[in-house]
Amino acid sequence: MARRKKIYEGKAKILYEGPEPGTLVQYFKDDATAYNAEKHAVIDGKGVLNNRLSEFFMTGLNAIGVPTHFIRRLNMREQLVRQVEIIPLEVVVRNFAAGSLSKRLGLEEGTQLPRPIVEFYYKDDRLGDPLVAEEHIIAFGWASQQDLDDMVALALRVNDFLSGVMLAVGIRLVDFKIEIGRLWEGDFQRLVVADEISPDSCRLWDIETGRHLDKDVFRRDLGDLADAYSEVARRLGVLPTNV
Ligand code: C5P
Repeated sequence: MARRKKIYEGKAKILYEGPEPGTLVQYFKDDATAYNAEKHAVIDGKGVLNNRLSEFFMTGLNAIGVPTHFIRRLNMREQLVRQVEIIPLEVVVRNFAAGSLSKRLGLEEGTQLPRPIVEFYYKDDRLGDPLVAEEHIIAFGWASQQDLDDMVALALRVNDFLSGVMLAVGIRLVDFKIEIGRLWEGDFQRLVVADEISPDSCRLWDIETGRHLDKDVFRRDLGDLADAYSEVARRLGVLPTNV
């Protein structure tokens, strides 16, 4: 069998060279990691679920005019995406306090925030992805002021879309993280949502019961991760049956 060129291997995904220039194949692994990879496990079926769920969210975003890197799903674990230049920032949007925000500011988890809050974290595993201010981003040249304004606008549009979609199936979108890439069209760049959108990168709570349906199940040992992700997929009608 012909072997593909591996471009990058991360904790949960592998990127291979795509069939046409400017494309990549994104492969979803079953690996789950937390706390900067201090905790690791292989969860059967997680890659398949995240491939489907990310396809669902990215397709929905493309359809409402929010640009993403997603082109199409290729098979159970792979999707074809546009090659982009990833901006080295994790963009987190929060609607309710949880996780690191609760810890940092002493807010009880689940406290509704006065409005969605957008935060930037510098992507560097060695440093544990530290929270950074716009000042750092501009001063160190990771993005321009225009990029930052565009990233905030993009992140808030994603938040509106995801919050609505989840609310419709009885799930609260507490917070999520996206990565954003530059897509060059000649001398012009367009910022697009890249990487993945899945329960690995969102906090999703059942509105009725408060059940966690996201990676906190793994981080905090709250039960079966694949069960939680299957529940999200089932409610969204993404998979006809459990994996
Ligand atoms: O840990 P924290 O509360 O800052 O996480 C905020 C949101 O960003 C959560 O939904 C979490 O799953 C996501 N996140 C992520 N990747 C990281 C850090 C956070 O997907 N490296």
